[in-house]
Amino acid sequence: MANQVIRIGSVGLGAIWTGVHEPGIRKSPDLELAAICDIDAEKLRLAGEKYGIDEAHRFTDYRDLIACPDVDAVDICTSNDAHFEIAMAAVEAGKPYDIEKPITMTAAQADELAQATQAKGLPNMVCFSYRFKAAARYARELIESGKIGRIYHVDMQYFQAWGLPHCDTPRVWRFIKARTGSGALGDLGCHALDLVRFVTGKAYTRLVGHTGTYVQERRNLEGPGMGPVDVDDFCNYMADMEDGVSASFQITRFGYGRGNYQRMEIYGSEGAIVYTLEAQPGCADEIEVCIGDVYAQAHAFTKLPIPEQCRSEQMQSFADIINGTGDGKAATIEDGRINQHAVDAILSSAESGRWVELA
Ligand SMILES: NC(=O)c1ccc[n+]([C@@H]2O[C@H](COP(=O)([O-])OP(=O)(O)OC[C@H]3O[C@@H](n4cnc5c(N)ncnc54)[C@H](O)[C@@H]3O)[C@@H](O)[C@H]2O)c1
Repeated sequence: MANQVIRIGSVGLGAIWTGVHEPGIRKSPDLELAAICDIDAEKLRLAGEKYGIDEAHRFTDYRDLIACPDVDAVDICTSNDAHFEIAMAAVEAGKPYDIEKPITMTAAQADELAQATQAKGLPNMVCFSYRFKAAARYARELIESGKIGRIYHVDMQYFQAWGLPHCDTPRVWRFIKARTGSGALGDLGCHALDLVRFVTGKAYTRLVGHTGTYVQERRNLEGPGMGPVDVDDFCNYMADMEDGVSASFQITRFGYGRGNYQRMEIYGSEGAIVYTLEAQPGCADEIEVCIGDVYAQAHAFTKLPIPEQCRSEQMQSFADIINGTGDGKAATIEDGRINQHAVDAILSSAESGRWVELA
């Protein structure tokens, strides 16, 4: 299939597909949107008309999309509860796939999916999107080249605000454990876990976590009345990582005034790096560094311009992976599997109040 246009079949035509996947497919010279699927027939019809997909290539059942001979690779953008079965079906059909995070509902499913994918040697990508932020890639390069020495501490915050009572967000699938797995943890915390691991290059060895739910009931999406929220609104956790790195995380949907705010501070023996996303309205990803004695004595952090080579695009990376020209930086199903184990460890720790060792 090398260097031919890859015909993509997308499953799940919601916010992330509309906002990120579809534009990414359209932008890539190596990808073409060939077929679409959603269980919501009206959404399917509207997307079909908007993106020029004829009725023969619109499906309400993902099995039909995967079986379609005009689909070379599967793009999985559904709610979390459907990821596993769709990805397993893609693997069974021998089709490469990309998959949204968190990859599955449990670590056991993640093991099964990773094992099946690897057994077939299928190209794959997990959409840990922040790996494509140029500032994160630059931070990783600086660390890899030894600029900040030995890493002691990482402190990561990921704050959104739409859980706050005044936002009046209804009981969407993200608040229902059976459909999402976990709340802020699997939604935002899994990104933070992956990003810290990606930037530092260090593995997690053990984790301890605390989760909480401020709003216990939300108005039902369909029909009258309220329904229970059975997942976390926020989670705080600490991790020991290899080589003595100590990391802490604060993750919430209750960060008043925040949009999609991230901040990662990394402190080493010879320097420090601060990565931010959306620190101010309209601000993209940025990094500041303090490296060397003169700067350290002045407590001076300086914003760095980001080199062009750090720029990349998620859906183009999927095409490159299929074409065998990937840069090795996108997350694989193995990264997704490792991530899911960390998520499960935090949930288990939040219940027991104890540290959980990772195998
Ligand atoms: N990488 C990121 O930064 C990022 C950001 C947002 C969301 N996400 C992930 O993307 C996924 C989707 O999130 P969203 O915000 O787009 O949700 P959404 O609710 O807007 O869209 C999900 C869509 O999937 C469809 N769907 C559900 N089950 C299906 C099935 N079995 N077959 C076909 N279609 C099905 C729904 O009808 C809906 O249209 C989630 O896993 C979420 O965690 C990732």
